[in-house]
Amino acid sequence: MTNENRSIAQELAQQSFARNDPTGWFEELYSRASGDESAIPWANLTVNANLADWIEQHDVRGQGKTASVVGCGLGDDAEALAELGFTVTGFDISPTAIAWCQKRFPDSQVNYLVDDLLQPTKINQSKFDFVLESYTLQSLPAQVRPRGIESISQLLAPQGTLLVICRGRDANEPVTRLPFPLTKEELAYFEQLGLTQVKFDDYTQGEKTLVRRFRIEYQLEVA
Ligand SMILES: C[S@@+](CC[C@H](N)C(=O)[O-])C[C@H]1O[C@@H](n2cnc3c(N)ncnc32)[C@H](O)[C@@H]1O
Repeated sequence: MTNENRSIAQELAQQSFARNDPTGWFEELYSRASGDESAIPWANLTVNANLADWIEQHDVRGQGKTASVVGCGLGDDAEALAELGFTVTGFDISPTAIAWCQKRFPDSQVNYLVDDLLQPTKINQSKFDFVLESYTLQSLPAQVRPRGIESISQLLAPQGTLLVICRGRDANEPVTRLPFPLTKEELAYFEQLGLTQVKFDDYTQGEKTLVRRFRIEYQLEVA
């Protein structure tokens, strides 16, 4: 991932936001990449280390359970959950990203779907035992994030677990450009929607540049 490619993504996003289109730039970015993963800033081609670490700590087993990956990108996290035994549905707003997942993992057990978290028509037909949201909310403008949070909450089955991984900031820290770190106040909306916060990890990581990360586990408890 070069700085030039990162700047191209930020420029496409700015143009999209200026057209009052909060998500159109994702498909533009994936299709312009023409199969070159290095053009996608978040594509590490391996499972997210923050997810892998959480899985290890919790000795997660997926047999007999369903999982959904929000904004699944190029599919590595969805594949990792399928390897744990979950029946996984990964969805993304970008048809090119979904076709890319299917090409990368031709024998995959994952059900890859094109759907829009902000206006779902397919993914909202099911409930899941485990939902992973990593880095999608932080790439949406603030005005549509509450809608995204509502839609993610609605994917959980009773007793289901939601894991959110995002950049974090304090409310008084300015936000300049993508990715937009989330505040604890914004994330509290998940609890207002009825989820119970099980654990909130707030940590910094990185080698050259330190990044503040939030990783939050929620559960949908039912009386
Ligand atoms: C920053 S990337 C993160 C990708 C992946 N979750 C990861 O952790 O590497 C955000 C992803 O969410 C997808 N996305 C953005 N808005 C979406 C929406 N409204 N519905 C579904 N997917 C969306 C994008 O196409 C992109 O693949």
